[in-house]
Amino acid sequence: MKRILSSQAEKYLDQTIKVEGWICSKRSHGKLVFIDLRDMEGLIQVVFNPSESKAYEIAKKVKPEWVVEIKGRVSKRPEGMENPKIASGNIELRAEEIKIYSEAKTLPFAIDTDGYEISEEKRLRYRYIDLRRQRMKRNLEIRQRVIYFMRKFLIERGFVEVETPILTKSTPEGARDFLVPSRLHPGKFYALPQSPQQYKQLLMISGIEKYFQIARALRDEDPRADRQVEHTQLDIEMAFTSQEEILNLIETLYIALVKEIFPEKKILQIPFPRITYKEAITKYKTDKPDIRENKEDDQELAFAFITDFPMFEWHEKEKRWGAMHHPFTKPQTEDIEKIKKYPEKILAHQYDFVLNGYEIGGGSIRTTNLDVLLAVFEVLGHKKEEIKKNFAHYFEAFSFGVPPHGGIAAGIERFLAITLNEPSIREVIAFPKTGDGRDLMMNIPSEVTKKQLKELHIRIESKNK
Ligand code: AMO
Repeated sequence: MKRILSSQAEKYLDQTIKVEGWICSKRSHGKLVFIDLRDMEGLIQVVFNPSESKAYEIAKKVKPEWVVEIKGRVSKRPEGMENPKIASGNIELRAEEIKIYSEAKTLPFAIDTDGYEISEEKRLRYRYIDLRRQRMKRNLEIRQRVIYFMRKFLIERGFVEVETPILTKSTPEGARDFLVPSRLHPGKFYALPQSPQQYKQLLMISGIEKYFQIARALRDEDPRADRQVEHTQLDIEMAFTSQEEILNLIETLYIALVKEIFPEKKILQIPFPRITYKEAITKYKTDKPDIRENKEDDQELAFAFITDFPMFEWHEKEKRWGAMHHPFTKPQTEDIEKIKKYPEKILAHQYDFVLNGYEIGGGSIRTTNLDVLLAVFEVLGHKKEEIKKNFAHYFEAFSFGVPPHGGIAAGIERFLAITLNEPSIREVIAFPKTGDGRDLMMNIPSEVTKKQLKELHIRIESKNK
């Protein structure tokens, strides 16, 4: 017999069907036993009558979260007993048979609430149970709808999704790299990508003029409410483009996306305001201003673009210049002497995408003039020989015909956390890490065997050193 989902059961009125799922709750009413069975689409009420004695006896002993199969007849609920809150609310299943697939221990916490009252450590330790919660299911479903919408939108406009490697070379995006030791090449390492930045620029040289990817980016930095060691970006790059074209594309995409998936939300201002970095700092004292009129209103979305960032920022602690975005960003001047002499004065063709006070995206037009790129790297404190060694592939590629190009990457989790009114991006990630980068469920990072270390030519220094 084919399995019927709870949401479809009403179509089978007066027929016998099979349902499968978890026992959500159980109650007795006179001689009858009632079970709410939960499947991926919702709940269905099942009634056990003593006249079906075998099923009835089993029903008396089942407990919440046991996994069962039930066969029974779909019947209209008695008048006045309908439940308009659930899809199967007009009917109930009169059980004829029940089979137990598996029993379940008492859960470590309730799953019929929104879960904010439970300690996050506990929720993360048992994340697979936490995800049974309605709110978390909704978040994952909406995440998928958002990503699906982005893909469809871009593919319809001629973009090509290209997967880029996870085992790659260090790309300076401002964070530390996660390193992966090579077994076959002792003493050598891969880096996990802080973003697909270099690959997407190389794809421009390949003639993939409109690239995108739903890309994983990995950065060894301290996680926060809006930061994880791994996050997902909508990554875009275009050849023969301009800042205006990129911002317009993003604007059109996000307006359509909000209309389709968050119709209850109101976008404060269309077109999205474009504010220069200087204006933002003067007027709002931040480069990610929250320009909402009413900050209490969680239905309001205030998008904005911040433009004309400085090319460099001074790192006082290390007494050196850093790139405000990344070194591949095109300065607003090609005057090399000026770049080297007055780095503090140089603006960049860089823009950020901001929503309700959060940076939800960032990008730039890229330097294609290699002399300018060299000068930028030099300001950043890299030695010429070192640049030529680390970025040899990049410099070489740029000598084979490079189109003008630029792009942007938008953080998926930050956008979702805001639109779903969640306090942290962890709420929109199936298996997030804690504030100190651990997975409490898998218990990672974890130790590995001596044999594995040996194969990788790695010796661990004593922890007490
Ligand atoms: P950037 O480093 O600005 O740009 O990242 C793009 C967007 O990704 C999101 N984001 C994060 N989200 C969660 N956790 C993190 N640790 C995290 N880091 C970044 C932010 C951010 O705006 N290669 C460039 C893009 C480009 O130039 O095209 C890049 O990655 O929303």
